[in-house]
Amino acid sequence: MMQYYGLLALVPFVRACTNPDSNACASFMTAQAATASAFCATFTKSAVTATAGLPAWATACDSKPSAISKECSCAFTGGGGATTTTTTKATTTTLTTSTRTTTGSGGGSTGSCGSPNYSLQGYGSGATGGGSGSGTTVTSCSALSSAAESGGVITISGVLDGCGSECSRSSLASRHPKHLLTRDIIVVDLVSDTTVLGSGSQSGLTNGGFRVKRASNVVLKNLYFHDPPEGKDLVEIQYSTNVWVDHCDFSTEGLVGDKDHYDGLLDITHGSDMVTVSWNKFHDHWKGSLVGHSDSNSDEDKGKLHVTYHHNHFTNVNSRLPSFRFGTGHVFSSCFENNPTSGINSRMGAQMLIEQNYFSSTKLAIVTDLDSDEDGYAVDKDNIFVDSDTRITQTGSFTPPYSYTTNPASCICDMVKSYAGLGVI
Ligand SMILES: *[C@@H]1O[C@H](CO)[C@@H](O)[C@H](O)[C@H]1NC(C)=O
Repeated sequence: MMQYYGLLALVPFVRACTNPDSNACASFMTAQAATASAFCATFTKSAVTATAGLPAWATACDSKPSAISKECSCAFTGGGGATTTTTTKATTTTLTTSTRTTTGSGGGSTGSCGSPNYSLQGYGSGATGGGSGSGTTVTSCSALSSAAESGGVITISGVLDGCGSECSRSSLASRHPKHLLTRDIIVVDLVSDTTVLGSGSQSGLTNGGFRVKRASNVVLKNLYFHDPPEGKDLVEIQYSTNVWVDHCDFSTEGLVGDKDHYDGLLDITHGSDMVTVSWNKFHDHWKGSLVGHSDSNSDEDKGKLHVTYHHNHFTNVNSRLPSFRFGTGHVFSSCFENNPTSGINSRMGAQMLIEQNYFSSTKLAIVTDLDSDEDGYAVDKDNIFVDSDTRITQTGSFTPPYSYTTNPASCICDMVKSYAGLGVI
């Protein structure tokens, strides 16, 4: 049996405030989080006045108990934000601090955000890829395709356009009946024991992508991925194990056009297992990262789809950050900004632990009852929500079997902006 200890972890939650970089209320809240959290942890009254032991900055507070969190709202007056120097009182603004229940059995330890640790951790930690040789450097699609057939270490130099093999339009259309295909390109397949590296600060693929299918031991690093072929994913992992996707950049043109014109940025499906997705930037696209593609695929997926996401940056992506069906997901120390529809979506009994993440303007930052026949589970631990909401119907019990190092939600956005993505490793 797993052991649990209960802690009350307190995170600031600001309603009616926007980005703390630009909004006085939000920056005030962030600055006062320690006091607000300590106060709200013990606060049970429905309403009190300024004489009843409020924090110095508050003029009135009330509590809002709910099933999974105890919220405490305080009104305050003040300029907020270090940049405000005026002595005039600002408009009264409501801030809300929510108390989250922390459940865990160790494993995670929290450092500062000072120095990044790029070691492979999490479920994909068995991935060794193509080994440590210097391998082959490719500068054309034909060289990439032939190198990909034999695996090993492959370095892409430059952005290669339209790589992949041809296949007939009718066979593509039969596999993707929803899409009206105008191109006859499919992505490049990778075999077992392959590492693909991007050279410098912008090397990779455009109008193309990779498929890891029935393979194990694949590493993708420092790769630029922009625009898959129509109807396809930039990277799709199917029937595969021990995969590490690290320091890559995934995007399309943004939230424009038909949302099904392209498929996902990084999709992990068909019973794939033991995957780590770390230090990547996912931005400007409709469908982010899908783990488990269908409610009716439990035969393949149940007991599989163990994926760790950490130190990623998700911005201006409409949904699936990630979306999990059936599997087991651990999402930690990542930054989510301006994602308009949904963030982490746990469904069909998926078990997810979500910790030390910062969510700003991300609608349904964590949700467990969206778009599937059955709800998923989510443990919400030490996350910060600014202008972001959650809807968690089942808390769940998952704790990771490995040890790992988180960095605090309060500084994670600065950290991943500096150290995730291209040109840093
Ligand atoms: C980096 O992370 C790995 C994996 O969690 C851990 O084993 C190692 O001790 C860490 N290194 C430092 C310097 O913290």
